[in-house]
Amino acid sequence: MTATVTERSAAGDAIGEIPSFTVTLRIERFDPDTPSPTPYSQDFTLTMHGTDRVLDALHKIKWDLDGSLTFRRSCAHGICGSDAMRINGRNRLACKTLLKDLDLSKPITVEPIKGLPVKKDLIVDMEPFFASYREVMPFLITTGNAPTRERLQSAEQRERFDDTTKCILCACCTTSCPVFWADGQYFGPAAIVNAHRFIFDSRDEGGTQRLSILNDKEGVWRCRTTFNCTDACPRGIEVTKAIAEVKRAIVTRTY
Ligand code: SF4
Ligand code: SF4
Ligand code: FES
Repeated sequence: MTATVTERSAAGDAIGEIPSFTVTLRIERFDPDTPSPTPYSQDFTLTMHGTDRVLDALHKIKWDLDGSLTFRRSCAHGICGSDAMRINGRNRLACKTLLKDLDLSKPITVEPIKGLPVKKDLIVDMEPFFASYREVMPFLITTGNAPTRERLQSAEQRERFDDTTKCILCACCTTSCPVFWADGQYFGPAAIVNAHRFIFDSRDEGGTQRLSILNDKEGVWRCRTTFNCTDACPRGIEVTKAIAEVKRAIVTRTY
């Protein structure tokens, strides 16, 4: 017989019941519409369940406690990249971070990602990030007439840039980069990852142009190989390795 959530085991626990716990979220708030806008932190204490993520807790606050709490999210399943935030001091996607995996004995801090202007609460202005992304021309560049059939590629050629196709443009990498914090002019790892995706694509003909863009003083040479970006990437992309491959391609002109 299938157990239901209302059945009780011999020990008295509900079979299949999801354990609940109390958790406090310490959220950095910022309202640009107040007379002298200043960031401040606000605590919210909630009862949540073992299957809940930080995003579920934010939804609960917004829907039940304070409708003014402002954050981005769309897919809720780690695909759209819109809910990157600093959770306990580390860049993560709120929809991929289970509360039970965090230390619940103290408040969980939730802050906007660093290095981009805060617009409201957990929402930052992503435009500087996307401006760098656009600069590396993240699209297939070809010359000549359009082919009459698919542009063929071997499995090995496709493998060459497979890792960097996984980027969801969440900005976790760029906004965990100390060089980007110090100087927002640096292209940042996400833009380089997306340049890599096309530079190493055998069908693309814009590699030389992209390498020259990234050879700029704000390009790949600013990277100090600290691996923060690789550690922060929720897609597990080897970001620092991709940057090193682009550096090598600039020097050797082989890609
Ligand atoms: S490895 Fe380079 S791009 Fe990545 S965080 Fe460090 S300095 Fe920034
Ligand atoms: S490389 Fe990873 S961390 Fe950076 S934007 Fe893409 S998915 Fe996000
Ligand atoms: S809401 Fe889409 S990645 Fe988290």
